[in-house]
Amino acid sequence: MKRTLIHKISSKDINSTFTISGWVEKVRDHGGVIFLDIRDSSGLIQVVVEPEDQELFKKSESIRMSYVLEIIGELRKRPEGTINKSLPSGELELISKKVNILSISKPLPFQLDEHANAGEEVRLKYRYLDLRRPEMQENLKIRSEVNHILRNKLVDEDFIEIETPMMARATPEGARDFLIPSRLYNQKFYALTQSPQLFKQMLMIGGFEKYFQIVRCFRDEDTRKDRQPEFTQLDIELSFIDEEQILKISESLIKAIFQKILKLEFKDFQRIKYQDAIMDYGSDKPDLRNPLKLIDVKDIFKNSTFKVFADPAKNEKSRIVALKINQEISRNKIDEYTKFVGNFGAKGLAYIKVNDSNDLDKGLQSPILKFLSTEEISNLSKTLDFSAGDTVFFGADHRNIVNDSMSALREKLGHDLQLIDQEEYKFGWITDFPLFEEDIKGNLSPSHHPFTATNGGIDSLKKDPINAIARAYDLILNGSEIGGGSLRINNLQEQLEIFSILGINKKEAQEKFGFFLEALTYGCPPHGGIAFGLDRLIMLLCKQESIRDVIAFPKTQSATCLLSDAPSLIDQDQLDMLSIKVIEEDS
Ligand code: AMO
Ligand code: AMP
Repeated sequence: MKRTLIHKISSKDINSTFTISGWVEKVRDHGGVIFLDIRDSSGLIQVVVEPEDQELFKKSESIRMSYVLEIIGELRKRPEGTINKSLPSGELELISKKVNILSISKPLPFQLDEHANAGEEVRLKYRYLDLRRPEMQENLKIRSEVNHILRNKLVDEDFIEIETPMMARATPEGARDFLIPSRLYNQKFYALTQSPQLFKQMLMIGGFEKYFQIVRCFRDEDTRKDRQPEFTQLDIELSFIDEEQILKISESLIKAIFQKILKLEFKDFQRIKYQDAIMDYGSDKPDLRNPLKLIDVKDIFKNSTFKVFADPAKNEKSRIVALKINQEISRNKIDEYTKFVGNFGAKGLAYIKVNDSNDLDKGLQSPILKFLSTEEISNLSKTLDFSAGDTVFFGADHRNIVNDSMSALREKLGHDLQLIDQEEYKFGWITDFPLFEEDIKGNLSPSHHPFTATNGGIDSLKKDPINAIARAYDLILNGSEIGGGSLRINNLQEQLEIFSILGINKKEAQEKFGFFLEALTYGCPPHGGIAFGLDRLIMLLCKQESIRDVIAFPKTQSATCLLSDAPSLIDQDQLDMLSIKVIEEDS
């Protein structure tokens, strides 16, 4: 008899006979009657084994959790009082006529319905069991659906899906490369591509005007909750376009996903210039659901005698910001927040509590008041619009430290004080990035990658690289960067100029990117594109805490695969073949 998927069985079919197959999720022996919860990929149904058929009953007594069974049974309505409203099949049960044990199972190393107690290590070691959980099944189904929506929509818009190499030369996305030694070419290595960036640009030179690829990328960087050493991008590139067209196409893709999967409609996404994002949030990927904003108060302390504020007030690379919360915060909590900002390099966290905003003399409470002048306090009250019950935090230091620590505090306060609607999705474009980032020591690196075009062209680039604005854009969602792209440089001179600003001389540029620099000299169309981090996007879409929950076989936070135990030691024979000598770290 043909197998029926469990979700196809409904109350219309009472008294019909079905064959189902699946895993035993629960076994209960209720005084002579055995109940089996059977799950297949579509759902779960209760099967009853009654004692009348002694042979069948005896066989069923040996059934344990996780056995794989084929069951022929007759559909019946559950008796009154035994209905389970939380299950689609909760009013139904199959009375078994025949049970085939297709496969037995050892006791599971963790209870699937108590996975939260199991710890992620066990879940990842036995990932194939973890994948049986309905939540994981759902996440991966959604992931597959997202891929289909994207493919269909892009193909409808005349994009061509093209695969690019994963084994190539090192590509510059700013992370370390994973290297593959070459057996045939002694001392030589391939690198796993960090992204198809150069290949997609060469596809434009090759005459494909609309490319896309759902592609695996590899980056040897420190993993975090929303990062994996191998991850998937939706990668897009187009010729003869401008920023506006790329942003429009991107928005239509994202809107289609949310519309089809969650039935949510979005207006056009908010656009925020990078400088404004940094001023208001201290971050280029702020969670826009969080209403808190940083307020610059540097000007108030130009003549301050309070050392903590006076030095940053005079230093052009420093910032002084305030973060006002309309809530009282306890001393203990303030101490906790002070420690917290310390993790980001802040040397302290000055604060003022406002008890009475009409009495700036006695109505404020703070250890720093004695260092501030009446004028400074009055200006603070005006700028920050003090009202009773407010707590105001201050960050003062090099702008990088202030931005890092106060944006993290903003995020933490948003969560702690429940200022964020967890159900909401808030997208935003960050535009007008600086072309280069400067670290605390004054070293320049590309904000995105070194193939990004700038607004002012080559002359302004030469004159004032620090203030050059990139024709780049990032898409953010709920505090995560889910995509980024740019218009590209399409002439050799400008490309060489960028390398020179980055301290890469002609010889080195030739060595590393000679093939690409040459390609630029054979008629390179104006072009640009974007890449979305699909794992991250799906993690947020599915409201998951970790990127690992939307990847079938992810790596741990420390970049290992607990299931296959990778990375692993390699046989001497294989090392010899590759001419590799391994040096033990401690020797
Ligand atoms: P970028 O490096 O910004 O751009 O990557 C694009 C998007 O990929 C996601 N992402 C990651 N997701 C998970 N784990 C990681 N380790 C990881 N690193 C990045 C992010 C990010 O926004 N070639 C350019 C794109 C372009 O210019 O067209 C690029 O790769 O969501
Ligand atoms: P101190 O003079 O170091 O005791 O600091 C006085 C107050 O200023 C304390 O509340 C500190 O937490 C705070 N403070 C110290 N350094 C900073 C800083 N860089 N930014 C903000 N507040 C600070």
